[in-house]
Amino acid sequence: MFSTKIAGIGSYLPEKVVTNQDLEKVMDTNDEWIQERTGIRERRYGKKHEETTTTMGARAAEMAIERAGIKKEEVDFIIFATLSPDYYFPGCGVLVQRELGITTGEAGALDIRNQCSGFVYGLSIADQFVKTGMYKNVLLIGAEMHSMGLDFSTRGRNVTVLFGDGAGAVVLQPTTEPGKGILTTHLHSDGTFAEKLAFINPGSHGGYHMGRMDEPMDFGYSDAEYGDIFVNQHMLDNGQLFPNMDGPLVFKMAVQKFPEVIMEALQKTGLTPADIDMFVPHQANLRISSFVQKKLGLADHQVWNNIQKYGNTTAATIPIALAEALEAGAVKDGDLVCLAAFGSGFTWGSALIRW
Ligand code: COA
Repeated sequence: MFSTKIAGIGSYLPEKVVTNQDLEKVMDTNDEWIQERTGIRERRYGKKHEETTTTMGARAAEMAIERAGIKKEEVDFIIFATLSPDYYFPGCGVLVQRELGITTGEAGALDIRNQCSGFVYGLSIADQFVKTGMYKNVLLIGAEMHSMGLDFSTRGRNVTVLFGDGAGAVVLQPTTEPGKGILTTHLHSDGTFAEKLAFINPGSHGGYHMGRMDEPMDFGYSDAEYGDIFVNQHMLDNGQLFPNMDGPLVFKMAVQKFPEVIMEALQKTGLTPADIDMFVPHQANLRISSFVQKKLGLADHQVWNNIQKYGNTTAATIPIALAEALEAGAVKDGDLVCLAAFGSGFTWGSALIRW
């Protein structure tokens, strides 16, 4: 029986830095509010017309593949996690395959839609394929190009200031080294609050879930049976093609679910918070991460935070942060690494890895 190890990791952050002061110029917000509530000072935005979720994912993947010491043709399965895909369909999995030039048709590609916990979900899926011996090199990518789909008017400020663009990737391989690799993964979801952190248009809902929204909304549907459900002019004119979030609810749920799902992983493996050497949380909000850190009794050097520089890059935050921690020498051979995420859905999950 195999375990699954991270054989190579890569990340990509676009060059353009957007500070809180830059956002102050386009919407009614301010640096003090953003830093105090979220910890974010700046984030990166991709280059319009040149960079996409796929291209950023490909750059991170190339680094991960090189560091894993394999040829890209040896990748036998791709998992792509994103909530900001290049196209509604097909997904970024096949697009990144083409971008990487591995179009032999050998490897399969799977896209997953699990938002902020996309990377942890992807890791768990990959783990099942690798430890059973089905695949030898699974490429898992988390990438986001949020900047192209945010509301830059004051109406969207509670969401827009949080998010940034970026990508991270890992190559997962089997290992027979005793006690090493992914020890356990735990995935959860509860759709009760699906609309509380969501990007609902364009979509095929046709208003069906209206009762779940805070107040009934006019989405501009006509009496015609078909044709204007997915997207229409009214949605464009009324700013209905953007993400929305109930920040306080997300915060409340996150600080509950993060510790819960981490404790679940520790209990499953007979470990305690004192055994964790490095905690890499999904970078949702510095206040959320600090709360979880305190709850677990971890010291500052045992938690990797970089939301200050990159904002929330959703499916990409964990691999970007893990790559940074490794590059800084903060994760050593034999360390216990804990990953955890919470986000839209709501979905949440955790993973423990013995490095
Ligand atoms: N700049 C200035 N003011 C802003 C603002 C911004 N960017 N965004 C919201 N505000 C205002 C609100 O309009 C509100 O004003 P009001 O009191 O006059 O109505 C006030 O700030 C407080 O808003 P609220 O949403 O209650 O603030 P908060 O203290 O909950 O902080 C978040 C907001 C988004 C930072 C916080 O709720 C949070 O981080 N939630 C979790 C979000 C998250 O992690 N999402 C990612 C998914 S994992």
